Amino acid sequence: MLSVDPLRPDPKALAEAASVLRSGGLVAFPTETVYGLGAMATDPSSVRRIYEAKGRPSTNPLIVHVSDRLMAERLSRNWPEVADRLANAFWPGPLTLVLPRTSSVPDEVTGGRNTVGLRMPSAPVALGLIQAAGTPLAAPSANRSNRVSPTRAEHVLADLEGRIDLVLDAGPTTIGLESTVLDLSCETPYRILRPGPISAEDLAQVLGEAPAEPGGEVALKAGEPLLSPGLSAVHYSPETPAVRFEPGERIPEGLGRGCAYLQLGEERPDLPEGALEVIRLADPTTAGRELYSALHTLDRKRAGLIVVAMPPPLAAWRPIRDRLLRATRPFRGPLD
Ligand code: TXA
Ligand code: MG
Repeated sequence: MLSVDPLRPDPKALAEAASVLRSGGLVAFPTETVYGLGAMATDPSSVRRIYEAKGRPSTNPLIVHVSDRLMAERLSRNWPEVADRLANAFWPGPLTLVLPRTSSVPDEVTGGRNTVGLRMPSAPVALGLIQAAGTPLAAPSANRSNRVSPTRAEHVLADLEGRIDLVLDAGPTTIGLESTVLDLSCETPYRILRPGPISAEDLAQVLGEAPAEPGGEVALKAGEPLLSPGLSAVHYSPETPAVRFEPGERIPEGLGRGCAYLQLGEERPDLPEGALEVIRLADPTTAGRELYSALHTLDRKRAGLIVVAMPPPLAAWRPIRDRLLRATRPFRGPLD
């Protein structure tokens, strides 16, 4: 583990991490969203190591991180004018654009698809690392497959210690939720594949029309085809069983004894009594930043049950509700 300043990372540390990458290694690094597990995107054997370390099915495509527009343009078969407008508005930042790929993107990155997800992160450590390595970096979130995403270096180590070569530690990430994924390879309206920090409304301003959102809560119904593996119904889960209650749904008395409790949004009257640990995240921005850390903390309590009081279904809570709907299941009663 190498500690670096989040705003002015030491060039020597970045050079060391870059040389690990250039020799085919895996480096976990902070972006503004979550920590990523990086490898040289154009080298198939480096990329295969990511899947091994995460225990991730190799059909799940990886996001390729770039440090400038030209690097992105070289990886996509065509770079439409709309990509320029979106990049002008939101790059560097938490938006991933799915575009037709060129042959310099190996099958290992895209799970055999003919498209690639591209993102220019804004975190100085991420940008500096890509520049120092001189190559685009394939990087999924730096957690074991189906586990909670890491927003701190210690989350990465807890999940992946011994399986990766280096972690750059720059403290907690600033946004805390994964990037919005927008498919530009389809007919209009373009499709949001994963809701995230850049909202549908933000995108509509630039696109001139509302993007399609099949990745919304409706897509969680069993049996629907998966557009993007990030949309699978169970994902991002803590190890402890976790149940959710919507606003207005009553948490039964007695359920709270010995549980770990997470409350999003407004205070509720039915706070479970006897909880081992209580975490409250009142507003969407704080909740975005702290959500995964809270889930990691509650999971470590070995409580037997995590009880989540859901935030209201309002636009500002959209990506948080999306992650929580995957991390928890509805409560169905005491014998559940
Ligand atoms: O914020 C983020 O996006 C973080 C940081 C590290 O950049 N990365 C991240 O990667 O969340 P990962 O692998 O955990 O999630 C990638 C998401 C998945 O939902 C995947 O299905 C989608 O992006 N994706 C990537 N390439 C795609 C493609 N070619 N077609 C469809 N979906 C794609
Ligand atoms: Mg992930």
